[in-house]
Amino acid sequence: MKKIIVNGPCKLKGEVIISGAKNAAVAILPATLLINGKCHLENVPNISDIRAYYEILESLGAKIDYISDNEVIIDNSNVNSAIASYELTSKFRASYYLLGALLGKFDKVQISLPGGCNLGARPIDQHIKAFEKLGATVEVKNGNVYASRTNRLKGNNIFLDVVSVGATINAILAATLADGNTIIENCAKEPHVVDLANFLNSMGANIKGAGTDTIKITGVDTLTQKSSYSIIPDQIEAGTFMVAAAATCGDVVIKNCIPKHLEPITSKLIEAGASIEEGNSSIRVKMSDRPKAFSIKTMPYPGFPTDMQPQMCVLLAICNGTGIIVESIWESRFQYTDELAKMGADISAHGSTAIIKGVDKLYNAPVYSHDLRAGAAMVIAGLIAEGKTEVYNIEHILRGYENIVEKFKKLGANIEYIDDEALQGDKNA
Ligand code: EPZ
Repeated sequence: MKKIIVNGPCKLKGEVIISGAKNAAVAILPATLLINGKCHLENVPNISDIRAYYEILESLGAKIDYISDNEVIIDNSNVNSAIASYELTSKFRASYYLLGALLGKFDKVQISLPGGCNLGARPIDQHIKAFEKLGATVEVKNGNVYASRTNRLKGNNIFLDVVSVGATINAILAATLADGNTIIENCAKEPHVVDLANFLNSMGANIKGAGTDTIKITGVDTLTQKSSYSIIPDQIEAGTFMVAAAATCGDVVIKNCIPKHLEPITSKLIEAGASIEEGNSSIRVKMSDRPKAFSIKTMPYPGFPTDMQPQMCVLLAICNGTGIIVESIWESRFQYTDELAKMGADISAHGSTAIIKGVDKLYNAPVYSHDLRAGAAMVIAGLIAEGKTEVYNIEHILRGYENIVEKFKKLGANIEYIDDEALQGDKNA
């Protein structure tokens, strides 16, 4: 059993360096399949979702040269299969990007339905709509997605009924090598959508409008490697450390981030009473008093990100007043509030709304990580609670946060990572 133990309370102080963006990397890795030849990627986060993607690409025939923990050269010229196994694709959500990428190369693609955080229903109807608009036939059967095409995909107009990061990304991946022009409307505008488009354009694609709600793609015949590409910093990891700094009344400089991407979080933390200093690629967060109450409604970018919702709930749990969170993206993203209640938080969550009445302090408890971001929120709660908090099911956290224990330790937290199985193994040795 792996767990993280946090002894609180503490005040975080110092500097933390943000890793590459998980949600950009999980789109760019499958995008390398569209390129004939080698792809040199830098600032790739060393997290389990990425390692799972390396495994999938190698299972398809890719050759990967691991230059360092965060730098790889991927050669997909010998990729000879378009069937990715359940064992590999079921570990995380973003494996479904293989559909868009492989349809650009193969006539038939088979991917198991993806796994990922349990946030309620996670439909893929808009992804399927995009592929069918481009001329593919898609069938979902026996837990697999079967996509096929008789000829090269053909550019078309795609209107997404829902603003969907995944569907926007999959549509871009499928349309990049299609024959003719594609217009995708009602697109997601997240930074990771833009990073994917920038990566593909750096390899010779013709994608305009990423970051707006309309993306225009002129299909090209091939993509070839140009220079290396560096993944953008992780908006949500940066936001997580900003909230941890504020929640612990600390003083932290978050380095290697893009302040523009963090504006919705910055403005809320200022409302809560934090002082924020922005640099070109850094943000300093200082908090000296108990946070003031505020309210949030999660929205697609540039609105407040749903992936920061659990972390902000911890800040509200100890605020001076009552805050409200409305979760408008996912149908069940408040499961973690039961864990915070074990620590003394006063939260009533029903449907898409949570009302959080600030309490003076939280107390240690064994808590469970319901999903990736809820797990990070449990760590933040442990940093501010009195006593030793044990965070379980941390495989979720390790999917999306590189060296989270070491990074918090460097900021002065009394935190450690325990792997009972490894300890047991040592004892038996
Ligand atoms: C991406 O998930 C992120 N994951 C999620 O982050 C994030 O919460 C989400 O975008 C919203 O920002 C990755 O990028 C790997 P969506 P995705 O399609 O693409 C509905 C994390 O913590 N929808 O934008 O799966 C859907 O039900 C993870 O890093 C359809 O109805 O999310 C939801 O209500 C957790 N039909 C809304 O759209 C579809 O075909 C937004 O979902 C697709 C989505």
